[in-house]
Amino acid sequence: MSADRAYDLARARLIVALDLPDADAALAAASRLRGHVGLIKVGLELFVAEGPAVVRRLREACPELPIFLDLKLHDIPNTMRGAVRAARRLDVRFLTVHAGSGASHLRVCVDEAAGALGILAVTVLTSQDEAACREAGHTRAPAELVELRAAAAAAAGCEGIVCSGEELERVRAAAPALAPVIPGIRPATADRGDQQRIITPAQAIARGARYLVVGRPILSAPDPVAAADAIVAEIAAAL
Ligand code: C5P
Repeated sequence: MSADRAYDLARARLIVALDLPDADAALAAASRLRGHVGLIKVGLELFVAEGPAVVRRLREACPELPIFLDLKLHDIPNTMRGAVRAARRLDVRFLTVHAGSGASHLRVCVDEAAGALGILAVTVLTSQDEAACREAGHTRAPAELVELRAAAAAAAGCEGIVCSGEELERVRAAAPALAPVIPGIRPATADRGDQQRIITPAQAIARGARYLVVGRPILSAPDPVAAADAIVAEIAAAL
């Protein structure tokens, strides 16, 4: 494979999390990073601050960058169906729902998405370690919970699964059809922050990640473009 082709494939797998306080900051970051990342992720902070208008503005400003709407829906099926219907109108590529809702809730979302957008199931947050899961009342270890939820997501027809790199191999074995989307990515030199279960970009690719979600290691870097390029280079080398 040529180096250019490897870089294109690598870039398409990098999702930058626009965890920023307002639309101006998000638009500035997206404009700066276009051509250096594959997708942009709009998460709760930005969506709660700016609403769907920020998604429309990002689409208008950077039409070539697909949007991943990371709202981690967790509600009764009727409400989740309505939210998926609304997300379809925003023309986003991916929407997250909590796999802890169970397979029937996930199925409603997949039905409503009708192939117009991909439903990604969130298994266990990468900020939650074993102690946090126990404190939340779970009797199973994070890895077991992830496996159980991956099977539910696959049964419901989700496109992908969000899990930590540590559980990637287990998830792939439990649900091989799902595209693994991996947050908690930290290049060897980056700060861990509040993430507990972290992995480097090269490790994530070697273990079978389809997409890598990276926020602070890019946005908080002195040069975000250089940070994104370094991650793409690491992915390309590992492909
Ligand atoms: O800054 P950092 O790289 O830690 O950002 C990770 C992103 O991935 C955040 O936007 C966070 O909401 C998201 N995420 C996560 N763990 C999950 C699902 C999503 O960290 N299980």
